[in-house]
Amino acid sequence: MDIAIVGSTGLVGQELINILQQRRFPVTSIRLLASDRSAGKKLLVRGEPVVVQETSPQSFAGVDMAFFSAGSEVSHHFVPLAAKAGAVVIDNSATFRMEPWVPLVVPEINPDDLKGHRRIIANPNCSTIQMVMVLYPLHKVSPLKRVIVDTYQSVSGTGEAAMEELSQQTRTVLEGREATPHVYPHQIAFNLLPEIDVFFDNGYSREEWKMVQETRKIMHAQDLAISATCVRVPVYVGHSEAVHADFTQLMTVEAARDILAEAPGVKVLDDPDVSLYPHPWAAAGHDNVFVGRIRQDVSNPTGGLAMWIVADNLRKGAALNAVQIGETLIERGWV
Ligand SMILES: NC(=O)c1ccc[n+]([C@@H]2O[C@H](COP(=O)([O-])OP(=O)(O)OC[C@H]3O[C@@H](n4cnc5c(N)ncnc54)[C@H](OP(=O)(O)O)[C@@H]3O)[C@@H](O)[C@H]2O)c1
Repeated sequence: MDIAIVGSTGLVGQELINILQQRRFPVTSIRLLASDRSAGKKLLVRGEPVVVQETSPQSFAGVDMAFFSAGSEVSHHFVPLAAKAGAVVIDNSATFRMEPWVPLVVPEINPDDLKGHRRIIANPNCSTIQMVMVLYPLHKVSPLKRVIVDTYQSVSGTGEAAMEELSQQTRTVLEGREATPHVYPHQIAFNLLPEIDVFFDNGYSREEWKMVQETRKIMHAQDLAISATCVRVPVYVGHSEAVHADFTQLMTVEAARDILAEAPGVKVLDDPDVSLYPHPWAAAGHDNVFVGRIRQDVSNPTGGLAMWIVADNLRKGAALNAVQIGETLIERGWV
């Protein structure tokens, strides 16, 4: 396939390049696109330097599949142009996710939603992907009634500038000086910020609202009650989530562990006696979604489970899921 990557110089773009190679995606040619700031820069693809080009309306001629990870504004402008030029677009931004005609897909969960696509496919939000990867296999056995999730999201979810800000602020604070925030509204080093994206009139942030809406769309569970609190934490890579899930029928800890042990893309790490549970430092760089601390929720002993879910937000939360969507389209002959 002739591939284009928009946002190829960014954190997700870099992971896309790596993962396409690691998974031996059938690439005939690859066009690396970014803003005018990076035009002319060279990136290595399969050991060979490839020149980054500025994204323009002409960038998509002859492209079979375009991966977008350059933010909502870029997607808003260029995704329709790429689709019109004949490319199948897999978009990492939130721009098209809730359009009823746009498939919002986690391949382990709803691959059939790709059928009949109209050349624009949305990759879900990182926090949503890792949560539904664990909830959906359980939901198939005992339908979910209600989900409460609190997230602990790493700064790489905001992009490269946020990672640099965490490093700089950490140094500054350790040297006894005052840190000045640029990317976030407050200092992120040695701190937590319960603000991810803008706040809506109902008091939820856009990130929290994405988790509500996208979970329902991916799982085909429009009536699912769900509430989220999303928090940015001073971790470089890997999002963590404390999830409380209420099921219609009793779901024992043993049953949940058995179901999740069989779930594709999920790995159970759960032995509190030896401090075995997932954590972001260990999850970074891995493809699985990790789950542990699985326990009966004492506030709902007949149908509630509490658990701790961790994944690499740049891989399964973004680039890997996008590549898996591409693979599914190819396998099923839908591209
Ligand atoms: N990070 C995550 O965990 C995550 C997860 C899911 C989805 N996403 C989404 O993926 C996107 C990128 O995230 P990231 O973390 O990779 O950000 P990033 O590290 O800040 O990279 C941004 C990329 O977008 C490019 N870009 C910026 N303005 C552009 C323009 N006008 N035209 C073309 N390219 C432009 C940048 O190119 P230059 O180098 O030329 O500036 C760079 O390649 C965002 O939409 C984000 O919401 C991120």
